[in-house]
Amino acid sequence: MKLLITGGAGFIGSAVVRLAIARGHEVVNLDALTYAACLENVASVSGSDKYAFEHVDIRDRAALDAVFTKHKPDAVMHLAAESHVDRSIDGPADFIETNVTGTFNMLEAARSYWVQAGKPEGFRFHHISTDEVFGSLPNDPEVKFTEDTPYDPRSPYSSSKASSDHLVRAWHETYGLPVVLTNCSNNYGPFHFPEKLVPVIILNALAGKPLPIYGNGANIRDWLFVEDHADALLLVLEKGEFGRSYNIGGENERTNLELVKTLCAILDEKRPKESGSYADQITFVADRPGHDARYAIDPTRIRTELGWRPSVTVEEGLERTVDWYLDNQPWWQALLDRKGVGERLGTKA
Ligand SMILES: NC(=O)c1ccc[n+]([C@@H]2O[C@H](COP(=O)([O-])OP(=O)(O)OC[C@H]3O[C@@H](n4cnc5c(N)ncnc54)[C@H](O)[C@@H]3O)[C@@H](O)[C@H]2O)c1
Repeated sequence: MKLLITGGAGFIGSAVVRLAIARGHEVVNLDALTYAACLENVASVSGSDKYAFEHVDIRDRAALDAVFTKHKPDAVMHLAAESHVDRSIDGPADFIETNVTGTFNMLEAARSYWVQAGKPEGFRFHHISTDEVFGSLPNDPEVKFTEDTPYDPRSPYSSSKASSDHLVRAWHETYGLPVVLTNCSNNYGPFHFPEKLVPVIILNALAGKPLPIYGNGANIRDWLFVEDHADALLLVLEKGEFGRSYNIGGENERTNLELVKTLCAILDEKRPKESGSYADQITFVADRPGHDARYAIDPTRIRTELGWRPSVTVEEGLERTVDWYLDNQPWWQALLDRKGVGERLGTKA
């Protein structure tokens, strides 16, 4: 298949690009190269004759039309988004423009292309979203997000993603556009931009800096290794039922404090300090405004209908992630100089 993948220079998008090429697909990577992008994430495949790059902003409808006309993709995987909750608190406008208006542009460009091509049967538009659209769960292991959980987004980021999910469903119901949706839990792994929790902890630990924990560290997330997410996304693209959404999770619930302590223990083993543990650097800081207490995915649908399960435990995945950051200092060193990285963001509520 020829896949048009948006946001393919970001964290998850690049994992999808690398896996899609490895599986023999052709890929057109469309990305505006915002502060969060890094073309090195796809350096291992960018020399392939199956790979093309388009430096395009999804806010530019005419440019999107030109990409569809030029490349004639068989399917779209839409990942381009503003993705950092803390940045959405300080500056929500970019999130509305890219995540809502940008998705609207993608839907319209895809619809126009699909109609002009005679509505080919195999065409599909896969919208990649987050579990954050469902809001915050109580601390009860029996209660998890299913595909039927009502939407209840609580941050500018999650509400912009929720809006985009609604648009995608509406384009299916109203225009018949063949869509599939996925809502995934927190990802971690190689090439994670160093403003998100896991890389912040690893890099601050190595630099001897405080390891910031928001609030009391009791917030629970369901962690999924990024390469498992990419695998699930390609499966849903190929086998998912049109108009249907699939929740994707790692079945790995951890409090933020547990996660950080696990990272510290892995680092203590792999790169011991002269004295003490990296956990000694843990520092509790003011909580994020509106910080959701718990996210947890019930993955029954994707497991029973499509036969998917994550392949690594969070301990294995975190160890692989720490190894990757220890081995790839030039990659992350260059990103530490970008605007806002290393600063406390999301305090302007
Ligand atoms: N990171 C997670 O844990 C997680 C979990 C579930 C779902 N998601 C979703 O997965 C997708 C990818 O997330 P990520 O963590 O890889 O994000 P990211 O911030 O690492 O990458 C986003 C990419 O989109 C590009 N982009 C941003 N605005 C654009 C625009 N206007 N036009 C074209 N390209 C633009 C950026 O340049 C970047 O390459 C997002 O839609 C996000 O909502 C993320």
